[in-house]
Amino acid sequence: MSIIRLKNLSKNFKERKAVDNLSLDIEKGEFFALLGFNGAGKTTTIKMLTGLLEPSSGDAYIDGMSIVSDMDNIKPILNISPQETAVAPNLSVYDNLVFIAKIYGFSDLEAREKASSMLKKFNLDSRKKDKAKKLSGGLMRRLSIAMALITEPRIVFLDEPTLGLDVRARRELWYILKGLKGEVTVLLTTHYLEEVEALSDRIAIIDNGKLKIVGTIEQLKEKTGLEKLEDIFLSLTEGDKIL
Ligand SMILES: Nc1ncnc2c1ncn2[C@@H]1O[C@H](COP(=O)(O)OP(=O)(O)O)[C@@H](O)[C@H]1O
Ligand SMILES: [Mg+2]
Repeated sequence: MSIIRLKNLSKNFKERKAVDNLSLDIEKGEFFALLGFNGAGKTTTIKMLTGLLEPSSGDAYIDGMSIVSDMDNIKPILNISPQETAVAPNLSVYDNLVFIAKIYGFSDLEAREKASSMLKKFNLDSRKKDKAKKLSGGLMRRLSIAMALITEPRIVFLDEPTLGLDVRARRELWYILKGLKGEVTVLLTTHYLEEVEALSDRIAIIDNGKLKIVGTIEQLKEKTGLEKLEDIFLSLTEGDKIL
């Protein structure tokens, strides 16, 4: 059984179809990339899957549970590093981690142990006592992802985790994300196609809320007859007709 199954999932904002009849299966332990231009519907999809928005029609099943009728049982098994960061700026790096772990029901001692182990895993130990607002963009993102993972989710949603990061910060984050492979199911959105090639097992491209293609990079190449992910992406998405 797929750990995430979207079935005709749709979201309308007035007459705008932000997500349009999306059906998709994501397998347990997969690192899955959702690609599409700004406004394609990626964040709206993630918001529905994480209970922040209700679908207009259709449904999705997370570990067999409906997001429409069973969100309370779904929430404990997932977490999200959102596009707008969830980090509390005036708390220290360490306290942000402890705080989230406690919200998810870990005891004080467990929360502290987990926070320490996350600091090591994400190479944030030397910044432990600093207020989060002092972190660079790259470190802030690392903290945001550490906060999503400290709760031991089975599924983590990473919405544009490398947006605005410099090349080094992005590579460092890739290195950390690679370490997660297989441990947890990851749904990643990004605009960086290199990132997709470096990290993901499978890819879906959406445009105007509609699914255009899904598969491994090799399958996408076969289906389209194109060699480069960038060409595949451009051929399936509507943009300026100049191309
Ligand atoms: N709360 C909202 N109210 C009205 N329109 C929205 C809202 N959120 C998103 N949209 C619209 O839905 C479409 C998809 O947005 P979004 O899911 O944020 O795209 P992406 O994350 O792929 O850039 C866009 O046209 C956006 O303007
Ligand atoms: Mg978005």
